[in-house]
This record gives sequence, structure tokens and C-alpha cells, in this order.
Amino acid sequence: MSGKIEIEGGIPLRGQVRIRGAKNSALPILAATVMTEGASRIGSCPALSDVRASMEILKYLGCVVSFRDGVVYADSTELYGAPIPETLMREMRSSIIFLGAILARFGEARLSLPGGCDIGLRPIDLHLAALREMGARIEERGGIIRCYCPQGLRGADISLAFPSVGATENIMLAACAARGTTRIFNAAREPEIEDLAAFLNHAGARIGGAGSAEIVIAGGAELHGCEHTVIPDRIAAGSYLAAAAITGGSVSVVGARAEHLRTVLPVFRSAGCEVTETPEGIRLDAPPRLDAVNYIRTMPYPGFPTDLQAPLSACMCVARGTGIVRETIFENRYKHVPGLLRLGADIRLEGGCAVIRGVRKLTGADVEAADLRGGFALILAGLAAEGKTTVSGAEHIDRGYENVCGTLCSLGARVRAC
Ligand code: UD1
Repeated sequence: MSGKIEIEGGIPLRGQVRIRGAKNSALPILAATVMTEGASRIGSCPALSDVRASMEILKYLGCVVSFRDGVVYADSTELYGAPIPETLMREMRSSIIFLGAILARFGEARLSLPGGCDIGLRPIDLHLAALREMGARIEERGGIIRCYCPQGLRGADISLAFPSVGATENIMLAACAARGTTRIFNAAREPEIEDLAAFLNHAGARIGGAGSAEIVIAGGAELHGCEHTVIPDRIAAGSYLAAAAITGGSVSVVGARAEHLRTVLPVFRSAGCEVTETPEGIRLDAPPRLDAVNYIRTMPYPGFPTDLQAPLSACMCVARGTGIVRETIFENRYKHVPGLLRLGADIRLEGGCAVIRGVRKLTGADVEAADLRGGFALILAGLAAEGKTTVSGAEHIDRGYENVCGTLCSLGARVRAC
């Protein structure tokens, strides 16, 4: 989808929504197929533009890849280590994850600097420093990175200054092909890291400790094709819970895993929602009006996820009272604020925080999505607003939410792509 989404607000959402596999797991796993010889079957892949962009990169490298009914079939037996063109890299930020995988397979990778959401500086210095510690040489010229390892990759002890998700993934990928053992200290602990490790282990890798702050990878195993199912998308789950919350509705999110949302569910509860863990997933029953949540601060997992900051900020816009939201992961991740203000929200940005004073009602307006999660936050505000809201820049939203209009309509919303 590209273009606009039109929302007629004011309807409490009711019903159930089934959550697909996590985009943030599927993308690194697709990149990891570069390192496997033979066919892999990756189930529960979401039909998203970022997944399509990853498949394009795989095809470009010579992988035989297809997508049917949420399953990606990828066979990387015959690959060639061609440099990935900028147009493909620009499609998505996660393309940097191909760096570790291609380096592992070919001993050399050339790619242009990654694209994706413009939500602040997204440096890759931690990725590159770690690969250097593993024996890689890196040259950067005119936006192109050349990474090669004349003596092959070697295992290393790597201490990350920050538990970067992308850097942890790139190190894990490269370490699979290294001589000896790699230990990552202060590793990212996101469930998607565990999922990537599970895929790689199914393919023959020897990775321990994923999901904890210390990951150990025994290098040198031959990787083969395998079967894997991607974990459910905790961010999509939290986003649809937010849609129930902001509209005063009742929604069951089928497939959502409460253990991945341990710092998110209490936020909904303190906003006055009843949140129930059911055998199928999570159910949220919202009060007619939310209470403000005093303070939300984004943190690396298991802290409150940066990807749910914008959706929860939208909820706070119509809550009773004032809440403070502090973004600590990406300094520029307040691009949804101008749109929320246009809809009548009362938000002040000060000292790196958003101070959100809840208003009784929002009023529909034309707004523009500047990034993926911020775009969804504008949809949420539109669902709660009186009258019609048009969100342009909908292609950002398509990067992370499969069939967003159809899903919201199935919950009773009046939403359409136009
Ligand atoms: C981040 C989120 C992840 C989310 C994804 C998409 C965190 C910790 N990570 O992952 O949960 O799903 O965005 O929105 O919340 N950094 C450096 N140098 C580097 C790499 C990162 O300074 O080489 C800094 C970044 O500027 C940022 C922070 O580390 O401030 C988080 O980066 P990282 O976890 O690597 O980002 P993503 O992998 O994109």
C-alpha cells in the first residue's frame, strides 16, 4: 500500500486479531539464510514491504526464494557475492544485517549505508568495531562499505558499549563462520535475538545464552537449510492492544505472548484497562476514558520498547491527566508529535521528554506519517478522533503492519486505504 489511509473515528474496537510473525525476527532470519546451504522453510513470516525488500536482496545474491501463505522458502545453495545495490539497501534499515551474513559466507561484503525509518541517528559503529575485533578490515568510501577478512574471521570477546540489537545480530552471524569461540558481553536480550539464535541452531550453529546478556557462539559449523517458525510480533500485538485502549474497546490479540510484553501490559493496566492473559493470547478491555500514565521511559529489552512509544503516546493524548514519555533509544523519535498536535493533542517537547496533557477529544484532520510506529500512532489518534482523519505517507505503515486497514475494519473501525 502507498498513499493515504482515511479514518472515520469514534468507534470502540471489538473482536479479535491474529498476530503474525515478528518483522524484527523475520528480517535477520532471512539475512541468515545467506549462510546456509540447502533449502529453508521459514513459517509465520509477515507479508510486509520490508520482507519483500529482504527477498529482493536475497534474489539479487542468487538465492531461490519465494513467499506463499506466510511461508518463505529460501535456497541459498548457489550464491554469488555481488555487491548489493544502493536502491535495494535503501529500502530498509535492517539491510545492514546482511553485512554479517554475507561476510560469513563469502569473506567479503560490499554494501551501501542502510535506509529505513528516519528516527534519529542510526549509527553502525558498534557493528563495525566488533567485526574489526573479529579480524575484518573495513573501508568506507562514498557511502559504500567494503568489509573483508584476508585471514578469515576469528572468534573474539566483544563487549558492547550499548546492547544494540543490530550489532548483536551481526556479531552472531559473523561468529558462526569464525574460527574459535566468540563471546558477546552486554548483548541485546530482545526475544528476536533468541529467535535468530534458534534459527541458526536449527541450521547447525552452536549458539548459547541468546536472550541473556552473554551470548557464546562456537564458530566453524557448516550451516544447512532448516525449518523454523518466526515468533509472534510483540510490537504489532502491543499496537493493537493500544487500538483497543484508545477507542474504549475490547480486543483479543490472538497469538500474542504476554512474556514478551512484561513491561507493556502494566502500562495498560495503570491506564485503567483490564488486561487478561488467555490461553490464546491477550485480551484488553478498556474503560470509556483512559487514565494518564505518569511516566514511560523507553529502554532496551526487557524495558519498555521504543517501538511502542509512539502508540502509547497517542493513547495518553486522550487520557485523564498528564503523563511524561521519555525516549532514550532514538533521539529523534517524536515525529508523530506534529500530527498529534494537528488532531488537537496537548503535547510539549521539553528536555528530551514529551509532556502529554490529556484532552477530552481529538478532532479529525489531515496528517502525515513520517515513520512506521509514528504513523501507526496517527492512525490510533484518528480512531479516537471525532470526524475524518487522513494519514498520508501510509507506505511507512506498510513496512510493519500487515493489512492494517483490513485488520482494523475487522474490529469494527471505519478505515480505508485511498
Ligand atoms: C532498535 C531497537 C529495537 C527495535 C528497532 C526498530 C533497542 C535497543 N533497539 O533496534 O528494539 O525493534 O530499533 O525500531 O530498543 N547504536 C550506536 N551504534 C551502533 C548501533 C546502535 O550508537 O553501531 C545506538 C543507536 O543510535 C540507538 C541505539 O544504539 O541509540 C539502539 O540501536 P540498535 O538496538 O542497534 O537499533 P536497532 O537494531 O535498529
